[in-house]
Amino acid sequence: MKMKKLYIETFGCQMNIADSEVVASILKDENYELTINPDEADLYLFNTCAVRENAEKRIWNKLQHFKGIKRKNRNLKLGVIGCMAQHIGNDFKQTGVVDFIAGPDAYRNIPNLLKSIDESGFQADTELSLTETYEAILPTRINNAKISGFVSITRGCNNFCSYCIVPYTRGRERSRKVSDIMNEVQDLQENGYREITLLGQNVNSYNYTTSTESIDFPKLLALTATRFPDLRIRFTTSHPKDISDELIECIANHDNICNHIHLPIQSGSNEVLKRMNRKYTLEWYLDRIQKIRELIPDCGITTDIFAGFCGEMEADHQQSLDVMKQVGFDAAFMFKYSEREGTYAAKHLDDDVPEAIKIRRLNELITLQNQLSLESNQRDVGKSFRILIEGKSKRSETEIFGRTCQNKVVIIPDTGEKIGDFVPVTVNDYTSATLFGTKIS
Ligand code: SAH
Ligand code: SF4
Ligand code: F3S
Repeated sequence: MKMKKLYIETFGCQMNIADSEVVASILKDENYELTINPDEADLYLFNTCAVRENAEKRIWNKLQHFKGIKRKNRNLKLGVIGCMAQHIGNDFKQTGVVDFIAGPDAYRNIPNLLKSIDESGFQADTELSLTETYEAILPTRINNAKISGFVSITRGCNNFCSYCIVPYTRGRERSRKVSDIMNEVQDLQENGYREITLLGQNVNSYNYTTSTESIDFPKLLALTATRFPDLRIRFTTSHPKDISDELIECIANHDNICNHIHLPIQSGSNEVLKRMNRKYTLEWYLDRIQKIRELIPDCGITTDIFAGFCGEMEADHQQSLDVMKQVGFDAAFMFKYSEREGTYAAKHLDDDVPEAIKIRRLNELITLQNQLSLESNQRDVGKSFRILIEGKSKRSETEIFGRTCQNKVVIIPDTGEKIGDFVPVTVNDYTSATLFGTKIS
């Protein structure tokens, strides 16, 4: 039977990338094979994000263009899946181009939804589940040439930070079975992957309990590192409230666990952190940073921070700038607050920081971080790292690039190394975004 073609465009966080691979696997059993050419697709999927308004705007814009695409290819089906499907729901029907929607816990039902479209038109499944972890589904890797892959270890989130839509779009937190996780890592290794990232909204609250044992995140991490000594292991995202000494020690004790912790601070002001319902104080956060620096002196530390949350005063913003300087983050994802319908903040707090001030504060965060990244990179000059080669440099044919375990990109002259090789390098130059080095021969 002729295979049908599936094209998936993924937006949002790494968890969506991992989920697209789960969906590809489910649809493979329905005779769909992935294509990289959208023009030949029989089924086109947008795997979407709802975390900020801009993420959703992008999708609305894409849907505008889709009217023309469907006019040319009348058999083409379009599905919107993921967090925005969950958030917006049946309103997608009004676009006239979307054939079905499926939320993050409804992917096993996509084959049924597809079958019903021809008879009944627009289909939707946005049922959230307390148990779905896509057990026993081995994801179909979307880009086979890759050497770095993702493995979800938890789904959902129970933290309910007051600004955040994720607990509503992804439902309650569930930890996946250890054996499922190990099988996926094994599969990636067998397919030539050299690096894996364990994923969850709050990976360090991972807990898989059976009648005989209870595996928490440090245990899972140690198990993965020991079982796969040739793989480089990363994890994201860690929540500051759950970053224990035991976890930091585990990273310090295993050479193949990357010395990089992404630890979103969100704000430097205790009052704002409280309104955000982040469940830690600035002092706690700084204590964790100190512990990391003590046990893993060369640890890369990156963060998420956003400007203009409800009630944020100039003094609060200043405290965010101060803590960024004090920690000296290697890199940061920075945003301005975007109110999300349905969250605690949208219902109970006033989105009272004017847009112009949000933008100005965000720009101040970005300017400062550029300086901090520059200083962080400057400190690496003269040091040696082992980088994992990821590909050709974008700026030159004669250069390639790889990543240090601290997660920094290093560009080196191409002397015949292959993608997936680990190469020792010395850093000799830098910008705020990149390091430049040479291979140690
Ligand atoms: N689970 C992770 C982050 C998930 S969302 C954590 O707890 O840190 C990724 C980032 O988007 C967040 O860290 C936060 O900085 C940002 N973010 C989330 N909701 C937002 C909103 N409503 N407006 C602006 N930024 C937001
Ligand atoms: Fe959102 Fe907070 Fe959960 Fe992160 S921990 S996904 S910010 S609710
Ligand atoms: Fe976006 Fe959903 Fe990830 S809202 S950030 S795609 S969990």
